[in-house]
Amino acid sequence: MNQADDLLQLNRSWSSHVGRLRTIAISSGKGGVGKTNVVLNLGVALARKKVRVGILDADFGLGNIDIMLGIDPERDINDLLEERALLEEILVKRSGLSIIPATSGIQSLTHLSPRQESVLFRELRKLEKMVDLLIIDTGAGISDNVISLLLSADEVFLVVSPEPTSIVDAYAVVKVVGEIDPGKPFSVVANFVSGEAEAAEIFLKLSRATQKFLGKSLDYLGAVQRDPSVTEAVRSQCPVLEYQPQCPASHDFLKLARTLQNRIYQRMGKNAEAAGRT
Ligand SMILES: Nc1ncnc2c1ncn2[C@@H]1O[C@H](COP(=O)(O)OP(=O)(O)OP(=O)(O)O)[C@@H](O)[C@H]1O
Ligand SMILES: [Mg+2]
Repeated sequence: MNQADDLLQLNRSWSSHVGRLRTIAISSGKGGVGKTNVVLNLGVALARKKVRVGILDADFGLGNIDIMLGIDPERDINDLLEERALLEEILVKRSGLSIIPATSGIQSLTHLSPRQESVLFRELRKLEKMVDLLIIDTGAGISDNVISLLLSADEVFLVVSPEPTSIVDAYAVVKVVGEIDPGKPFSVVANFVSGEAEAAEIFLKLSRATQKFLGKSLDYLGAVQRDPSVTEAVRSQCPVLEYQPQCPASHDFLKLARTLQNRIYQRMGKNAEAAGRT
């Protein structure tokens, strides 16, 4: 089997093992464009709307969900893989979220032993009953580990900033994932923008390129303005939605959550309609 087959195989086993749980992976290609902030604040906003949100910090080695929340988990996903702890023992509850802390003990989910893989799937399966939505925070770049996580998710949100390097790197993510799974849905979150006009410009640049050269269309989810409160919140180790609920970025995160929730309801409606027809 070649590398793409390996990744596709892993994707299939994830999908079948994680069952009906809806998963969204957050990626960007380029580092430092705001992925972890989007994961946390979107999670907090959805949790306030009574969506049960799980967060998997899959930025192995450099995971920083715990740092951004000012928590110091005693156990992490490595304890789960080494069978020292069960899922419920490593989950950290904070701000209405159920967080699976990252580890620095493993490099990748693509190189697990068969035993570790079965432990991981057995434990992740429990999430189905605990949460409605799992958001996966991935590291920067397009390593095998990141790509396998994106393939494992139902959909991918690309966080993109106005910098040309961010747009080019996001394009690379769509290209690499699309070569293995052409049907994977992608949505764009424009971050660090001055307003709607700049967000639209970023989205159009990226989506026109993916459409033209890859035949792949992208959805637009929304935008988050550049806002100094985000940096202050990170320094205070608190999601900006809690640190400064009225700042522009907090409003943007609430709007993103509304858009996502509406989409989920629409999809549920369509599924119910389809089920009614059969
Ligand atoms: N909308 C924003 N306005 C102002 N600053 C922001 C905004 N979004 C993110 N930042 C700043 O950018 C920094 C990087 O954000 P974050 O850690 O979420 O990015 P990342 O994509 O997860 O990075 P990495 O690739 O290292 O995981 C934050 O510490 C924060 O200071
Ligand atoms: Mg991050």
